[in-house]
Amino acid sequence: MERKTIALVTGDGSGPEMMAVACAIAIEAAKKDGIEIVFEKTPMGWNAYEKYGDTLPSESFDKAIKIGTVFFGGVGDPKLDGTIGAKYPVMKPEARCLLALRKHMGLLLNFRPMIYYKELAHLANVKPETIPDGGIQQVWIRFLLEDSYFGNEDLMDLRPDECAKIGVKLKKKVMGDEELVTDIAYFRQSTVKKYIRAAFAYARSAGLPLISIDKANVMARYDFWRKIVTRIGEEEFPDVPLTHQLVDSANALLFTPAKLHGVIACGNEHGDILSDGAAAALGSMGMMCSSAINPDTGKAMFESGAGTAPTLAGQDKANPIGRILTAAMMLRHLGAVNGARAIEEAVKKTLGMGYRTADMCAYSWNGVLGTLGMGNLILSSL
Ligand code: IPM
Ligand code: MG
Repeated sequence: MERKTIALVTGDGSGPEMMAVACAIAIEAAKKDGIEIVFEKTPMGWNAYEKYGDTLPSESFDKAIKIGTVFFGGVGDPKLDGTIGAKYPVMKPEARCLLALRKHMGLLLNFRPMIYYKELAHLANVKPETIPDGGIQQVWIRFLLEDSYFGNEDLMDLRPDECAKIGVKLKKKVMGDEELVTDIAYFRQSTVKKYIRAAFAYARSAGLPLISIDKANVMARYDFWRKIVTRIGEEEFPDVPLTHQLVDSANALLFTPAKLHGVIACGNEHGDILSDGAAAALGSMGMMCSSAINPDTGKAMFESGAGTAPTLAGQDKANPIGRILTAAMMLRHLGAVNGARAIEEAVKKTLGMGYRTADMCAYSWNGVLGTLGMGNLILSSL
């Protein structure tokens, strides 16, 4: 069997419980493709702080970067963010771990395919009649670098003196008594071109149109974005239908999902905001899966967009399906296509048979399953 090593961040809150079942399922499913998956623990988050005094121990970080494939269970806990995090803002794990990994691994493409399950229509926030009979395909591909997320840090490296003059500050250094604080947002031509070509290529291979989201009516960087998208569309992908959508109207279209059927290209910040809305519109955040890829090196991180469910930690209650579907994305990336498909089908089958975790029930019901129960059922129907 071919062996694939993956750096495993079990994470905070309910992360370890959800990741335990997701890892067991990934290992079992990958065997269908003759692949042996080996997880190497790389602790990050508040759990790592408690053990090693750092939410991002350098040993974990270096190892994750070196391995190049990371299965990320989510970090953060509002309680600790407010206590230790208030004292040592630099330790707040969401930015410290996630953003550092994205930047150092060069993870440009963030895939967030939305899946609508008829069985879970009661969780969705769209009217059932807005879903076409043939179902809905909404593949969000968020531009995961640069923009307002990395602007300050990147510009400080380039021009520290100018930054000080115009109020550019690192988030962890903000005191709240400044006269002026600036966030820099930028797009680099070469990065946008690489990104948009990848999004077009994905749309072409999936037979879907490309919907590009921007704020070209107001912002320079989005005017630039729209011009690049239009040119690449006309010159290189004339066969892929392209539409442009302003971000505010795209937000309104989340409630008529058929109008966003396709591959959706959007900036880092817009994508962060809209993808949560899309997940909640079509189902729930607990079901969202997500992968982040460097298209040049193949380095990748698989992090369910869902949170760490800190209030459920240790109680075997959190819904593991977002993590499990994210494991399917990871398997597909590693070439375990049969395993990936088997996981997706097992999830569908398990939901189809009526099994639910507590967050999926519209009312309290004593047949509800815990994290482990749901995980084991999916595992056994692989
Ligand atoms: C996401 C998250 C992250 C982001 C946070 C945790 C830094 O919200 O992956 O969508 O803003 O990108
Ligand atoms: Mg988000």
